[in-house]
Amino acid sequence: MSEKRGSFSGKLGFVMAAAGSAVGLGNIWRFPYLAAEHGGGIFLLVYLILVLTFGYALMKAEIALGRKTGLSVIGAFKKLDQRWSFLGLLAALVPVLILPYYSVIGGWVCKYFFTFVSGGMPQTAEMAMVMTNDGLKETPVFFSNFTADPIEPLGWFLLFIGLTALVVLFGVDKGVEKVSKIMMPILIVLALSIAVYSLFLPGAMDGLAYYLIPDFSQFSATTVLAAMGQMFYSMSLAMGIMITYGSYMKKDVNLESSVKQIEMFDTGIAFMAGIMVILPIFSFGNLETISPGPGLMFNALPLVFNNMGVAGHFIGALFFLLVLFAALTSSISLMETVVSIFMDKFGWGRKLTCGVVFVISLVLGVPSSLGNGVWKDFTILGMDFLTFFDFMTNSVMMPLVALLTCVFIGFIIKPESIIEEARIGQNGKVGAFGRFRQETMFRAMIKYIAPVCIVLILLFSVMDAFNLLQYVGLSV
Ligand code: PHE
Repeated sequence: MSEKRGSFSGKLGFVMAAAGSAVGLGNIWRFPYLAAEHGGGIFLLVYLILVLTFGYALMKAEIALGRKTGLSVIGAFKKLDQRWSFLGLLAALVPVLILPYYSVIGGWVCKYFFTFVSGGMPQTAEMAMVMTNDGLKETPVFFSNFTADPIEPLGWFLLFIGLTALVVLFGVDKGVEKVSKIMMPILIVLALSIAVYSLFLPGAMDGLAYYLIPDFSQFSATTVLAAMGQMFYSMSLAMGIMITYGSYMKKDVNLESSVKQIEMFDTGIAFMAGIMVILPIFSFGNLETISPGPGLMFNALPLVFNNMGVAGHFIGALFFLLVLFAALTSSISLMETVVSIFMDKFGWGRKLTCGVVFVISLVLGVPSSLGNGVWKDFTILGMDFLTFFDFMTNSVMMPLVALLTCVFIGFIIKPESIIEEARIGQNGKVGAFGRFRQETMFRAMIKYIAPVCIVLILLFSVMDAFNLLQYVGLSV
């Protein structure tokens, strides 16, 4: 017997949960480093344009697909066109693969939070002479020692994924919605406080100038590509999440304005994260420490907090609490999406499904956790497990799902079906001209602009991974 399908209580609950999904590790460590690397202000500008055009259309389309069909991702595509069931399956595979490694990183965040809270900040900044690719160098070792341990990271991973499962167990309104409604406002207050604090650090204005003033000489195709990849990831698109959440959305909720609010949340926090991360590094460190991946957050920032003296304990603990909340609401959305797929598909109850998904994720997460330590030497295409899962989902599967979704909407079910769904709940609040503009733009985006852009991302991100971009003169 399948249980009654859950739903969000209203617009606020929906927006908080969807924003909770969107605001995550991507906003806090990925966005600042990308912005710093791709010319600061120019990256912000490109990102903003993409969010408002392409991101907007795709998010609207996904939420409408979910609400229209009332089903999670596999069922939604199947219901609209039998032949396209494969797309649902492909999209469903993305969160199944992301959840385990995302939770491994979530576990690292827990570890840092507890270390700061228990007064262990000095340990996080320990340095030692280490043999690196550039020879013997003084390097932070806390992170590498911690991840090299075969047991400890697994324990934190278990804690993080256990917390996630607990929330999902309580269901859509009593679990996901309730937790998002508590965590998201706290997250905004934390982000604002730390960002304002950063503005008053010595030398912060130089950092701000670097972050905000566009450096046009750094503009290139890779800037656009980096911004576009980041947009998918940050807005939780192309992985069935927004379809699932849309299926829990009531018909009287204004879809169009919900999308605007989620975007404001997501972009606002990303923007503040840039201030929180780049300014202190300017003030206390140097920009060389900004490097891709976990390094920035787990290696460079503790050094910065240590340099702040006593305040560092406090700011560091708050910062990692912020990251923890952001990561938790995102992993909750991932697990809810997977659970919902299984429940729809097999008609299982929520408890059983949560148990099954928990165990699957645990098993899939172990290689990502060990891959930074004892299994370091085991690589796929030269990447450790975590990097490989991240690459497969972000650079290959998500652009592919996004592309096929655009084709499906643009040419199979037609943009009109989404437009109709979006009109429900608008209560005539938009004037005729506004509606014409909104709808014309949507058609153009979904049918032509988005698919062409996605083909480009797909092509370039794969070329980038294999270091082929230099041959077309695009490497930076
Ligand atoms: N949108 C989230 C972020 O910015 C990332 C995420 C990816 C969330 C996949 C859920 C699933 O970090």
